[in-house]
Amino acid sequence: MDLAGKKIVLGLTGGVACYKAAELCRALVKQGASVQVVMTEAASHFIGAVTMQALSGHTVYTDQWDARVANNMAHIDLTRDADAILIAPCSTDFIRKLAHGACDDLLSTLCVARPRRLPLFIAPAMNVEMWENPATVRNVARLGADGITLFGPAAGAQACGETGYGRMLEADQLLVELVAAFQPKVLAGRRVLITAGPTFEAIDPVRGITNLSSGKMGYAVARAAREAGAEVVLVSGPTALAAPQGVRRIDVLSARQMHDAVMGQLAGQHLFIGVAAVADWRVSNASPHKMKKTASGAPQLTFAENPDILAAVAQAAASNPEGWPYCVGFAAESENLIDYGAAKRLRKGIPLLVGNIGPQTFGDDHNTVIVFDAAGHTVLPRAGKLTLARQLIGDIAARLGAPGTPHR
Ligand code: C5P
Repeated sequence: MDLAGKKIVLGLTGGVACYKAAELCRALVKQGASVQVVMTEAASHFIGAVTMQALSGHTVYTDQWDARVANNMAHIDLTRDADAILIAPCSTDFIRKLAHGACDDLLSTLCVARPRRLPLFIAPAMNVEMWENPATVRNVARLGADGITLFGPAAGAQACGETGYGRMLEADQLLVELVAAFQPKVLAGRRVLITAGPTFEAIDPVRGITNLSSGKMGYAVARAAREAGAEVVLVSGPTALAAPQGVRRIDVLSARQMHDAVMGQLAGQHLFIGVAAVADWRVSNASPHKMKKTASGAPQLTFAENPDILAAVAQAAASNPEGWPYCVGFAAESENLIDYGAAKRLRKGIPLLVGNIGPQTFGDDHNTVIVFDAAGHTVLPRAGKLTLARQLIGDIAARLGAPGTPHR
């Protein structure tokens, strides 16, 4: 549970997107958060306090004169033990109030009275013209300097029938953003390039050779790197997974396409993590047309070796004056992981290699990994892939040192 022990003040202001706030509230509770809902009077025209109370399990407050809080100071008491305030949906008018420090209802007063340590996130939700109105643009521009962070908005079809920016992010997207906000920003200012998934080597236009990699580990590493504040590019072989939020994904099929995409993105990268299960060989006599069954029997395939992407990146790093990018490889072995892992790290010429037991981990949501470096190896015990990915990113970030300093 990514929000275990966290107290979130969930503020609702007036907007059709209030219906998404119900789902969001459920999602926050499901992740272990304690949710305190505060609604503006306008929000209560779109969704009932009874619904939000049932979903959060706590009394919902709307009125700043509500005497149910012990000392009658809801605007103070509701935030003192909170870990974050999230206003979703946040209307045009509420953005105006935040930009000017208005205190004319419970939610706005509570925001102005929040302790300085308490992060305030808003999920704007409004018509595209309202979002692009110069007054809104002015008000939004003031929020960053006041320590207020925006989640979204997204572009798309709007409840009013118009299309454009102003759509509130979906509940699951807001959850991802909030969870990310609590992760340490150990890769802030870093650019990270990651490969993930299998490759697909064509036999003919409809057939090919691939492997059982699901992409889950690589996608988890991409998400964890983005949560840590990095700018992430993910070069992915064919998987069934959605691109991690906030990550730029480049889709490829074959190892050679993956190689070309990686080399094309390499300039300026601080970190390369090769998680993909890249095919070692491709079919060198692939047919341009679908192969037919013939009386002469099964086709004879011949193979050529694929480029080793990780080795190529490691070589580029070796000739970079500052040694960028720092290279991390993955290895899936079915036996002798300790010996093979240590040997593979040396053979690839990389500082860090993460080993896992091949067949078992493919497609699983959990993994056990062994981290190999020059000093030896460390076992990270079985855990969810995202948990392991966060641990790996923390470890790698520590090896990179502070931005501007050479890595170890
Ligand atoms: O040699 P092996 O395939 O086991 O090495 C695994 C590591 O090398 C992984 O990090 C994988 O992404 C990378 N690799 C690569 N290009 C290849 C083969 C493997 O980048 N052609």
